[in-house]
Amino acid sequence: MFPVAGLGTRFLPATKAVPKELLPVVDRPLIQYAVQEAVEAGVDTLVFVIGPEKRAILKHFERDPGLEELLASAGKDELLARVRDILPDGVSAHATVQEQALGLGHAVLCAREFVPADEHFAVLLPDDMVLNHGPGALAQLVAVHEATGGGVIGMERIDPSLTGSYGIAEVAEDDSGYSRIASLVEKPPPEEAPSNLGVVGRYVLDGRLFDTLETIGKGAGGEIQLTDGIAQFMGEHPVYAQALEGKRYDCGSRMGMLQANIDYALEVDDLRDRLLAHLNSALARQR
Ligand code: G1P
Repeated sequence: MFPVAGLGTRFLPATKAVPKELLPVVDRPLIQYAVQEAVEAGVDTLVFVIGPEKRAILKHFERDPGLEELLASAGKDELLARVRDILPDGVSAHATVQEQALGLGHAVLCAREFVPADEHFAVLLPDDMVLNHGPGALAQLVAVHEATGGGVIGMERIDPSLTGSYGIAEVAEDDSGYSRIASLVEKPPPEEAPSNLGVVGRYVLDGRLFDTLETIGKGAGGEIQLTDGIAQFMGEHPVYAQALEGKRYDCGSRMGMLQANIDYALEVDDLRDRLLAHLNSALARQR
């Protein structure tokens, strides 16, 4: 499940006509990285929770026979493969519209009809990118889910002054040997935060959570918060914290987006050396 209904105001005017999730990191839109990570973790059904003006996201995942024909007849096989790979075979994409921006918990609730109550499902917030040379962020969560049977949330240690921007967890090891979340609170000020363990936008959750989400009211920022729903639900059903391996980028911010673009480009063979040379000369000019 990909909640992508947000307005992306931090990137205006770039996001006036283009959804923030379609902004590129190197040569692929943000959302495509999240989808690829989900598919690599074993997901075969994608649900996009879009805002009313965000159909372009779906278009990105639809086949485009005209474009494919053009690339094929021009012999541009590599580009053709890249376009076809956007949605791998055997993976289906669905969408539901969140009419009003009532919060992340509400967005997740909008996709309820796609999740059988007795199954677990994953939520990925595409703004958060995690670059890792081993298993992707969601695959790391799935491994903990398979070992414990419980829900799992991706976490990282954050600067203690920034707790007001994150869900914050307190954890304790249980019999399973994994870190079970003992308390979870959305965006507490530093003086009220139980720790500096911040929620990264990756979740594996129990389908029964929807019943809880139906009942919780507005929380931090006047929104229906996913964090609040999980906090209530985990009293009876264990939810684990998984400190993510890899470097995380907040691509909801300009700085995070720039850092991601540089670091992901450094992973691309035919860009790496020229980009490093450019960065070196840019540094030299600043000195
Ligand atoms: C959301 C969640 C928050 C989490 C964050 C990670 O907040 O509500 O718990 O820490 O994503 O990116 P948002 O950034 O959408 O305000």
